[in-house]
Amino acid sequence: MHDDRPIRELIACQKPGWSLEQRFYTDPEIYQLELDNIVMRNWILAGHQSELAQPGDFKVFNVANESAIIVRGQDGEIRAFANVCRHRGSLVCLEESGNTRKFTCPYHGWVYDTEGELVGARAMPEGFRREDHSLNRVSVDIVHGLVFICFCTDAPSFEAAKRDLAEPMAMFGFDDLKVAATKTYPIAANWKLSIENYVECYHCAPAHPEYAKMHTLMLDEKKRERVQEHMLEKMEACGMKEIEYNFFATESPPGEQGYHYSRTAMFEGYKTGSGDGEPIAPLLGDLKDYDGGASDLAFGPFSFLLAYSDHVVGYVFTPVDQTHCQCQIYWLVRGDAEEGKDYNREELMWLWDVTTYADEKIIVNNWTGVKSRFYRPGPFSAMELTERHWIEWVLHELRRAPSVIS
Ligand code: FES
Ligand SMILES: [Fe+2]
Repeated sequence: MHDDRPIRELIACQKPGWSLEQRFYTDPEIYQLELDNIVMRNWILAGHQSELAQPGDFKVFNVANESAIIVRGQDGEIRAFANVCRHRGSLVCLEESGNTRKFTCPYHGWVYDTEGELVGARAMPEGFRREDHSLNRVSVDIVHGLVFICFCTDAPSFEAAKRDLAEPMAMFGFDDLKVAATKTYPIAANWKLSIENYVECYHCAPAHPEYAKMHTLMLDEKKRERVQEHMLEKMEACGMKEIEYNFFATESPPGEQGYHYSRTAMFEGYKTGSGDGEPIAPLLGDLKDYDGGASDLAFGPFSFLLAYSDHVVGYVFTPVDQTHCQCQIYWLVRGDAEEGKDYNREELMWLWDVTTYADEKIIVNNWTGVKSRFYRPGPFSAMELTERHWIEWVLHELRRAPSVIS
């Protein structure tokens, strides 16, 4: 039966504690609202500052129908620009990353410097002002070494996240990490399903045998608490403090980017996320030993990190279009760790490569079923609480969209 309720009404009818109505995944108008009010209005993890170590180092970062150039200027500052030529709109930079002193548009050859200024434009009429045609700025912020971008000019504040996460992020030496590997996983499904899947671990036991034998997040809360108790002393002995912030995006004050940090014990015998539980890279930051835990971090709605004692894995889920999304994964190690000597890329990537391929499969199956005429929202389990919070936040943001309010 065709559902033609106005979006406002659809949001109001959404049952708390149940999965979303089909139209939240399939209606192009809702996708457009999400792009304008969520995707373009929140910070997205775009890498680590170590990828842009030298003046002129750049990388291109694409989200939905937008493309940004992130570049370290000759003055050492990291900036981001819309990768859209101010002449007639061609993409300016077609390379994924590199080092340059200037970006030359491939269409008619306009030239921009690393500060985004137009420095060359042939055969333009008299009175043409280059200074009026700089590349448009995209917001950029560095959070303890992590590079975030936001495609709007009034991005939410990151101050609370920076302040409150300073201590745990310093423990892991986030400022001085380096990207040991990165990989993009295309997923043929609506973007929300991939994040909903990431933030719940109800599926972990059936879907991820490799992950489930080391991570206690697949246990229900009572069992997990018992394991957690065992870890506390070890954590302190290793120089780690028990820090639990649960300031998920739904509870953020308006204008502030939500964040989360918590540390969870792994099963006995696992020092890190490796095949046999043994270390796979040098200890991070100032850590004194392996405490057998893993920390979850979240910054806004798209960006998540998992900090083991010897490496960090970053996950960024973004839409490509309404029916496709991607998961970009970063594996980070100590900045002074050497490949082949201190760590091995394959060993480092193994767990989250196999887990992400398994996730891709279940997300695509989920998407196929969600598009069916038989799909109806279903009730969440107690282990899907974060997913519930996440979709409540999405609905909250949609409700505030000007066209929905009016
Ligand atoms: S579109 Fe870039 S120079 Fe013409
Ligand atoms: Fe998963």
